[in-house]
Amino acid sequence: MSLFLLTRTLPEDATEAALRADVQQGLGRNPKTLPPKWFYDAHGSELFEQITELPEYYPTRAEREILIDRADEIAAATGARTLVELGSGSSEKTRHLIDALAGLHTYVPVDVSESALTQAGHALVAERPGLNVHALIADFTARLVLPDTPGPRLVAFLGGTIGNLLPAERAEFLASVRALLSPGDALLLGTDLVKDEKVLVRAYDDAAGVTAAFNKNVLNVVNRELGADFDPGAFDHMALWDTGNEWIEMRLRSRTEQTVKIPALDLAVDFAAGEDLHTEISAKFRKGGIRAELAAAGMELTHWWTDGEGRFALSLSEAR
Ligand code: AVJ
Repeated sequence: MSLFLLTRTLPEDATEAALRADVQQGLGRNPKTLPPKWFYDAHGSELFEQITELPEYYPTRAEREILIDRADEIAAATGARTLVELGSGSSEKTRHLIDALAGLHTYVPVDVSESALTQAGHALVAERPGLNVHALIADFTARLVLPDTPGPRLVAFLGGTIGNLLPAERAEFLASVRALLSPGDALLLGTDLVKDEKVLVRAYDDAAGVTAAFNKNVLNVVNRELGADFDPGAFDHMALWDTGNEWIEMRLRSRTEQTVKIPALDLAVDFAAGEDLHTEISAKFRKGGIRAELAAAGMELTHWWTDGEGRFALSLSEAR
């Protein structure tokens, strides 16, 4: 017997209110900023899936390679009976882990996309008799209340998405993850690693222009949801490597002086020619830095695995 449960922790209209607040605040800031979570409407999620298959975008393939090679080791090290996945999306890479966790009782995918949760959840329950799936509709940065399921728990946060958070936001996020862990529980964290600048920039500025379309899609989202009149063609996609912060920055650079109207917010926003709208940071990491950030949040790194080319890392840590 398998069970599929879906718990909504976000009100139906939370998304719209959060978008309004983010656009209002972000476009009033200097430099203008929009958070990357608004890339992911249905079209943006489709573009991201295309990005993961681009020759230049290595992180997804590198992480999948590690998961396939190390799933048995991760399973042996954790003995997890509950697997919580933050930002689970399609749960595609997680399959390898689920297959390896012989004693797994419940999989708890956490995502803001109800459609992704329902699709992935039903497929898993059908494939793996005896596995329960208790999906949570929630933002991964929210304080979560997990269902009461047997330990040990393994909390997974894959894809390198932690890199979208600023250092202070990462510290807060890691502390909230630490609060979910009891003795014997573990965190499995995917992080992209610092490497040659050209390789990094290419991964975020591909020849086919898919990442440019993904970046500009945030303007389509604001147009549709808030009635704005952004012209995506009036902005250039930028991907810059910040050497000091060791992160990639994606921006949209206004080609001309222009004014954008956002009726739902009763707002007119002026852009100077060449002015940047900041849309994403994607931080890249080193082992020592990860170890220190985990330690500061009350966790101890116990395992570190990279792909054959040393581009991406999965780390396992436990509560101290
Ligand atoms: C899904 C957040 C891991 O930062 O590499 C891909 C998003 N942005 N190309 C990343 C993204 C531009 C991606 N994450």
